[in-house]
Amino acid sequence: MDLRLDGKTALVTGASRGIGLATVRALTAEGVRVAGVSRTVTPELKETGAVVVTADLGTAEGAAEGIAQVAAELGGIDLLVNNVGGGDGVQLSGFLGMDDDYWKANLELNLFSAIRVTRAALPSVLERRGAIVNVSSIGARLPAAGPMPYNVAKAGLTAFTKALAEEVGPQGVRVNTVSPGPVRTAIWESADGLGGKLAAAAGLEQEEFLKRVPAMMGMTSGRITEPEEVAALIVFLLSEVAASVTGSDHLIDGGIVKTA
Ligand SMILES: NC(=O)c1ccc[n+]([C@@H]2O[C@H](COP(=O)([O-])OP(=O)(O)OC[C@H]3O[C@@H](n4cnc5c(N)ncnc54)[C@H](OP(=O)(O)O)[C@@H]3O)[C@@H](O)[C@H]2O)c1
Repeated sequence: MDLRLDGKTALVTGASRGIGLATVRALTAEGVRVAGVSRTVTPELKETGAVVVTADLGTAEGAAEGIAQVAAELGGIDLLVNNVGGGDGVQLSGFLGMDDDYWKANLELNLFSAIRVTRAALPSVLERRGAIVNVSSIGARLPAAGPMPYNVAKAGLTAFTKALAEEVGPQGVRVNTVSPGPVRTAIWESADGLGGKLAAAAGLEQEEFLKRVPAMMGMTSGRITEPEEVAALIVFLLSEVAASVTGSDHLIDGGIVKTA
């Protein structure tokens, strides 16, 4: 299938590893000139040949400086992927154990980063009648499953996406969310991430815990999703082939969400 993306430009946030890195690779393979933003540069990101910009997107200043650099490097932005999210220092405590700083850090990274990056990039995306994909989570639909501030931020991100799609649709810009369930990235595989903390709380080796995740979470597919699968969905939604798809949320969760 020709996705007709050749020659376009794209900005991908959270590009150094995981879903962001897979998206940079998939877009590059379609002939897109990509700029990737993250706090650190990995050899894998460098290898893609993407323009690499380092910025902390969890702060307003970092987002403004980072996106200004990207705009200067690319000359204009057709496609935007607000992928950055997750966060350092996941807490498994209940609501009373979470202070304002923890809530703010989650909201900054999982909601405000997308709002700020979109505000900076949108004039160019509008000029080029481009497309935006925001990476949300099944947590937006299942707020009691997993860390509360993260899920609340993702619910806000999904709502933001819908509202923006309605506003900019008449000007030729499409906006959608992709909402993954468990994906094989640092979030699950790092000892400091959600997966590591859940494994420790369950008293299991992390590898053993990860094997049990699909059954524990009701994944009909029976396996954790790979980052390349999420990237493929993102790239499809950005493409002209998806010209009628806007304002919609796309689950890629192996069947966890059971409602129609
Ligand atoms: N993996 C899952 O199971 C899953 C499920 C549902 C939704 N998601 C969502 O998918 C998206 C990607 O997650 P992932 O699983 O690929 O996570 P990941 O492997 O932890 O990657 C996160 C990326 O974001 C960057 N990043 C983190 N904090 C940043 C900051 N303050 N400023 C700039 N960049 C920052 C990281 O690079 P640096 O550390 O170098 O900055 C990295 O490139 C997130 O929005 C996440 O919430 C993931």
